[in-house]
Amino acid sequence: MIDFSQQLQTPAPPTMVVLISGSGSNLQALIDATASGFIPGRIAAVISNQPDALGLQRAQQAGIATQVIAHRAYARREDFDQALIQAIEAYQPTLVVLAGFMRILTPVFVTHYLGRLVNIHPSLLPALRGLHTHERALAEGLSVHGCSVHFVNQELDGGPVIMQARVPVLPDDTPQTLAARVLIQEHRLYPAVVRLFCQGRLQLKANTVWLDQQRLDQPLDLACVAL
Ligand code: GAR
Repeated sequence: MIDFSQQLQTPAPPTMVVLISGSGSNLQALIDATASGFIPGRIAAVISNQPDALGLQRAQQAGIATQVIAHRAYARREDFDQALIQAIEAYQPTLVVLAGFMRILTPVFVTHYLGRLVNIHPSLLPALRGLHTHERALAEGLSVHGCSVHFVNQELDGGPVIMQARVPVLPDDTPQTLAARVLIQEHRLYPAVVRLFCQGRLQLKANTVWLDQQRLDQPLDLACVAL
């Protein structure tokens, strides 16, 4: 009798843990994209440092495990990050996704997940690292703004950029109208990048992004990517 059971086993889909701090609209885009099959992976858990983050409800409604690790409960940043690592490791994720996670991570955390840790940032990096990007885009008189997804490294908002989406800055824009226009693009951009990662097509090698075994000389542009 031949045992075919080994051949019949399909490989487990990539798993993700998503870290949030707030509204979780990017998390929602990722939930929707996994549910539709656009992202060939599974969100195993959502972890928030803020107990009242709306994103926790979004996860619960989608039947995803949630956990709160309140940074205020830890005296030192390193201790919080260690607790975070311990919680994440319970899910053995292929990818850790920062989706509006508003904490600076320590080198221990970043090194642990190097190459499988991504972040979305509301600017065309390397422009406008840090906070209040929409206000600053207006104050600097930029005509084009947007969002970036990058691998996280030790440098704050400085990791190699994978893909970006651009939006025009309009004459009557306020920080709110500009943020809303960027957010629409964030919700397309993040699923597009996570999809590539879950397909096994993206890698970080020597602080450089590789797609399909080829080194990227510049970030991909969402508008030019066939989805
Ligand atoms: C998003 O605009 C994201 O780019 C930004 O926080 C917002 C979270 O929204 N992240 C950062 O500024 C990280 N430095 P969401 O909770 O609705 O996804």
